[in-house]
Amino acid sequence: MNKDEIKSRAVFASKFAAVATTVGSAVGLGNIWRFPYEAGVHGGGAFVLCYIAFVLLIGVPVLYSEFFIGSVTGSNVFGAYRKLAPRGHWQLTGYIGIVASLMILSFYSVVAGWTLEYSVESALGQLDFIESEVGDGQFVTLTTEWRPVVWTVIVLAFNTFILLRGVTKGIERASNILMPALFLLLIAFCINSFTMPKFGEGVRFLLEPDFSAITPGVLLGAMGQAFFSLSLGLGCMMTYASYFKKDTNIGKTAITTAMLDTSVAVLAGIIIFPAVFSFGLSPQAGPTLVFEVLPYIFSQLHGGMVWSTLFFLLLFLASITSTVSMSEISISFFMEEKRMSRRRATLVSSAIALAGGLLCALSFGPMSEVKLAGMTAFNLFDYVSSNICLPVGGFICSVFAGWVVRRSYLREHFAVYGAKGRVMMCILMVFLRWICPAAIVLIFLNSIGVL
Ligand code: PHE
Repeated sequence: MNKDEIKSRAVFASKFAAVATTVGSAVGLGNIWRFPYEAGVHGGGAFVLCYIAFVLLIGVPVLYSEFFIGSVTGSNVFGAYRKLAPRGHWQLTGYIGIVASLMILSFYSVVAGWTLEYSVESALGQLDFIESEVGDGQFVTLTTEWRPVVWTVIVLAFNTFILLRGVTKGIERASNILMPALFLLLIAFCINSFTMPKFGEGVRFLLEPDFSAITPGVLLGAMGQAFFSLSLGLGCMMTYASYFKKDTNIGKTAITTAMLDTSVAVLAGIIIFPAVFSFGLSPQAGPTLVFEVLPYIFSQLHGGMVWSTLFFLLLFLASITSTVSMSEISISFFMEEKRMSRRRATLVSSAIALAGGLLCALSFGPMSEVKLAGMTAFNLFDYVSSNICLPVGGFICSVFAGWVVRRSYLREHFAVYGAKGRVMMCILMVFLRWICPAAIVLIFLNSIGVL
């Protein structure tokens, strides 16, 4: 590897920044919007149990391998695979990551747009808390007209602005402040959740698994959610790890990221489900769940308007720390492989996301009848990227790190841990070679009815 090439790339300033940025990527709408609705649709506790199992069995090892590949090569996804295996066509995996990340960015910006709109509406006193008993009309009004298009454009513009400022100034600074603030606010709402009349029922729904509810759909959904939430399978964490300082402890960073990410998801569940049951709503509402339930919660609080503004604003900002990480995959690819300037690379990636974003934004209104395989653009992008592309990308990454990467690289990497290093490497290899690929394949076969 060419040392100058690595030196000229951006590097996160500290170890804290490495954790803050990877947590910034992982924690976002996936935890607070997607996790509760997926759990609600897939029967609650059974889904949560499978999800946590997948985070541990597949998520952490794949996260480790992405961190490893990114940090030893100091390259974009495409370049990273090529540097470690110049023969073979492993780098083509980079394309899956780039396409999937732009698809995710498209629908994700629409949801981030809803959060921004909710925050602005709350600040202006126009989010109707008290009347929200009349049903979900409010969410529908806010999402079916032309407005989501405008908000999506604003989100992508904001995302582009941060990305143009670059890795350390833009991405790192935003994450360092936002992540701790969001965490504190979630804990405050979680404490408030204890006062809900059906707190017990909500928590039981979330945490008490009904084993008979574990169907192939639940398994696939939980695996997709684990990948989505940890930003895995498309090279996002690999790209971020390429900016790590050389002495960053990858193992610790991987475990801290997975733990914080999972706790934020569970906190979100503890906030949402007691309210769902207390207000007599259905946990199966799907993607609109959180946006319908939260106004009820805020209506119960003193100064609901302020809480609501603050919460949606933070959620919006948390989603921005994720959108920048999705964009960074294609930006680093365009810069390093296609020799574009950062500015040009950012604009190209934002333009593609904008085209996809408009399709998704319109799929709740004027284009709601345009469907492929029974799904609107929004649902299709989400399903294909999360349930197919991410696990496929994770499978390849795991096989690559387990079977293809030269042992000497791994040995050198693990040598810094001393005697413990050998054991850690053996355990990781068992996961990457056997457990992760087998689990991913079995779940796929199971979901298409072969098993
Ligand atoms: N992990 C992010 C979230 O939970 C979403 C994401 C997916 C970010 C893929 C980057 C890549 O919100």
